[in-house]
Amino acid sequence: MTNHLYIARTLSDDAMGRAHELGLPVVVGVDEPPTRERLLADVAGATAAVVTLTERVDAEFLDAAGPNLRLVANVAVGFDNIDVAEAQRRGVAVSNTPGVLDDATADHTFAMILAVTRRVAEADRFVRSGTPWVWGPRMFVGLDLSGGTKLGVIGIGRIGRAVARRAQAFSMTVLGYDPQYEPGDRVDGVRMLSLPDLLAESDIVSVHVPLLPATRHLIDAAAIASMKDGAYVINAARGGIVDEKALIAALRSGKLAGAALDTFEGEPHVDPELLEIESVVLQPHIASAGSATRSRMCLLALDNVREVLADREPVTPVLAH
Ligand code: GLV
Repeated sequence: MTNHLYIARTLSDDAMGRAHELGLPVVVGVDEPPTRERLLADVAGATAAVVTLTERVDAEFLDAAGPNLRLVANVAVGFDNIDVAEAQRRGVAVSNTPGVLDDATADHTFAMILAVTRRVAEADRFVRSGTPWVWGPRMFVGLDLSGGTKLGVIGIGRIGRAVARRAQAFSMTVLGYDPQYEPGDRVDGVRMLSLPDLLAESDIVSVHVPLLPATRHLIDAAAIASMKDGAYVINAARGGIVDEKALIAALRSGKLAGAALDTFEGEPHVDPELLEIESVVLQPHIASAGSATRSRMCLLALDNVREVLADREPVTPVLAH
């Protein structure tokens, strides 16, 4: 098939309906991540490709797609699965899905903050284990969020701000770091600090930045060492932002009281050491998995396809960094 719309994974029902109205034959990949061979075969000759974060879009993918390809539309706000510079060099536009998943992602981030600080997942495992128990004043004691507990938000973009709003509603003190603001600035009630100051002052550090060369291992062994003893790390952004080995060492030594991870460095592989640590909450990359949110993400990807097919700019383009 050539000049088709390739869709790597089955999208929401409404988006699948919309896809068939765009005027191109539609080729849909398999529901599980397509094998690389299948992906490269199915994308050959496509005019546009709708992909997800499980598909690696690199020179090999672009070669396989061939010269008809005009757009790669990612169904995700993150775009580290795509070699954007390589696509741009070949005149292939890239788009992502910003703005439609901020609340869902912030909700889930907050669910993870609560789950790890109030030991929700650990307590659930305890009850299910059948261990006999009676209520006790020292049982499953965790961290109170209200009363000035400091949440450090790294990345004060749309998602970081949505997380900050939730933290403010919980009477937390919110600190922020973002290179586009100066220490001392106040952004939506968030006191901006330098990164070292944020790490040193926060009880909980949550990352909300894209994975780029500049943010890879932003939270490494040195960053963790500079944090408060007994602090927490939350990552609902991308695995590579947190050095997983350094995190594991800090959880094992007790330097960190806990962590909550929705993304992993070798995703979908989860380091077996993490599975053994009670104080870490593990999620299978579901922070944006609200049903209306997923529908909006899929529809926005198709809006981008529609625009490019009509010789207009994508609605939400990604430019090379
Ligand atoms: C999900 O991880 C996304 O980037 O949208």
